[in-house]
Amino acid sequence: MAGKSLFFDGVPLAKSVQEMSVNGDEPPPEFHVKDGSLGCTDSSHLSLSVSVPIIDLSLLSSSEKELQKLRFALESGGCFQAIGHGMSSSFIDKVRGVAKQFFGLPREEKLKYSRAANGAEGYGHDRVVSEKQVLDWHSRLFLRVFPEKQRKLNLWPEKPDNFREVLHEYYTKLKQMMDLLFKAMEKSLDLQENSFLGQFGDNPVMHVRFNFYPPCSKPDKVLGLKPHSDRSSVTVLLQDEEVEGLQILKDERWVTVPVIPHALVVNIGDQMQIMSNGIFKSPLHRVKTNKAKLRISVATLYEPEPEKEIGPVEALIDDKKPRLYRNVTNYASLNYEWYQKGKVPLEEVKFHA
Ligand code: OGA
Ligand code: NI
Repeated sequence: MAGKSLFFDGVPLAKSVQEMSVNGDEPPPEFHVKDGSLGCTDSSHLSLSVSVPIIDLSLLSSSEKELQKLRFALESGGCFQAIGHGMSSSFIDKVRGVAKQFFGLPREEKLKYSRAANGAEGYGHDRVVSEKQVLDWHSRLFLRVFPEKQRKLNLWPEKPDNFREVLHEYYTKLKQMMDLLFKAMEKSLDLQENSFLGQFGDNPVMHVRFNFYPPCSKPDKVLGLKPHSDRSSVTVLLQDEEVEGLQILKDERWVTVPVIPHALVVNIGDQMQIMSNGIFKSPLHRVKTNKAKLRISVATLYEPEPEKEIGPVEALIDDKKPRLYRNVTNYASLNYEWYQKGKVPLEEVKFHA
């Protein structure tokens, strides 16, 4: 149990997953998912490479067909691959490049940006909030990007040299893309402009999670990331350029999201499922580990200002589609505790008449 109490003190792991991976250590039991739990890796959930829809964002404002495709994607699986997002391939490669370079730095250098014991931001692993928590085979760098004045620059790597500059540019572009996407989502449901975006407040929050999944000797027992739905409104994921790992639960099956090198994977998060009164689906997803290759991804979570109350858009509530969720503030922080204790966060905000 000594190792376990180390986690609880919030001290970085005695050994990071990266070190265990390099040493060829067996993953300790804290990392093993339990059969029958949410983290089940049961092989009856076959991973099929079924295609996830591809949407060209540059067509959304002019093509009714593309808009309907978007709506269908968000109502069914809650996930699509975005092309026509306005970022050049070379720029996308640059973003991946700085992520790769950061994780390649010596351990001491990365530890300069360590997450504080009870903080959320910085380099490390998940905060442990429950005895039952199964640990994930990854390390990550988690940073708040917007509102800009809330950036904790002491946790923003200074190496590689262009890290901050590339990140700033990526997020300026991504914010524009998100605004366009939200307008299209509103339009696809015949809603007034700002029905969703109007719930974000003056200071919407954007976080980035650089995820590093080292090779793992027990891919059948250990996940890179346990099944979860994102607490965000929308998440944009830049996948590894060649290594697959992300799976979405679709029609009760785990579907691998194929790698399309310069596309961005977009998925709905819980707060958008709430705001759309359950029409847009926040999919369960997970990350598999593999024996041979490491995988890096860059996930961006966009959500309303925490103090702002959010709830289902009135125009989406009627006799046929009664209100599914209650109004809620601070969903993000509630979500984490519920999730790590094995509760389903969206169930906790169900509306009871
Ligand atoms: C996440 C996530 C998927 C991935 O960070 O919430 O689901 O492929 N990441 O890293
Ligand atoms: Ni996720």
